[in-house]
Amino acid sequence: MKAPALGIDIGGSGIKFGLIDVDKGEMIGDRVKIDTPKPSTPDAVAAAIRDAILQLNWKGDKIGVGFPAIIVDGVSLSAANIDKAWIGTNVEELLHSYTGHKYYVINDADAAGVAERMYGRINHIKGTVLLLTLGTGIGSALFYDGILIPNTEFGHIQYKGDIAENWVSNRARKERSLDYDTWAKELSEFLDYMILMVSPRLIVLGGGISFRFDEFAHHFNHLRTPVVNATAYNDAGIIGAAIAAHPELMEPFV
Ligand code: BGC
Repeated sequence: MKAPALGIDIGGSGIKFGLIDVDKGEMIGDRVKIDTPKPSTPDAVAAAIRDAILQLNWKGDKIGVGFPAIIVDGVSLSAANIDKAWIGTNVEELLHSYTGHKYYVINDADAAGVAERMYGRINHIKGTVLLLTLGTGIGSALFYDGILIPNTEFGHIQYKGDIAENWVSNRARKERSLDYDTWAKELSEFLDYMILMVSPRLIVLGGGISFRFDEFAHHFNHLRTPVVNATAYNDAGIIGAAIAAHPELMEPFV
């Protein structure tokens, strides 16, 4: 049995914390959510996380974090929906300097994918599987035989003269005043495009929209790849972040 780990999901509008039973992939108790500081500079976010961890009275040593940017070796290489000062910041070192814990940071959509890969929809699915999170941006996690190919950033591919997340993220849906039906029809076109790009065996949708999945899922019936909802809904990012703090759990399928 592994000790529970703290998972943190840093988003453009909120930062979510959850204590995770990493053996079961389940949250213990309630999740805690705070607003992402504005501006969301590295120091402001790190201080907010430190304060929340103090309030949670977290005594463990390891903390996993899902961060909404390209993450290579703990360093943020992009910043689409968070302050640009994050570019080039070593997120693991910065957070460590604020609280003294050991941090494991991965891309937020990769974290959601890892949760589904360990305990949800992607568990034991061979071949190519694509998970997309639809929130402020569009995050992506791509798996082949259960192995994550990190930082795919499909929300930033050129699409209809812009980047995809500016058309079909949940933020774009609100900004464009689209109802769920109209939006889901447009999303199905984007999913069709992604199917052409990577021919996944399965597409999993997560993020803030996952609670309403059943209302619009029929718009995906005609696609050649089945589209399902993330089992952990919008909590997949927190659960996967906590799993990232235990890299030994991420063995490839055999
Ligand atoms: C970022 C990704 C992130 C996604 C969801 C995108 O704008 O570039 O790194 O995974 O938003 O937060």
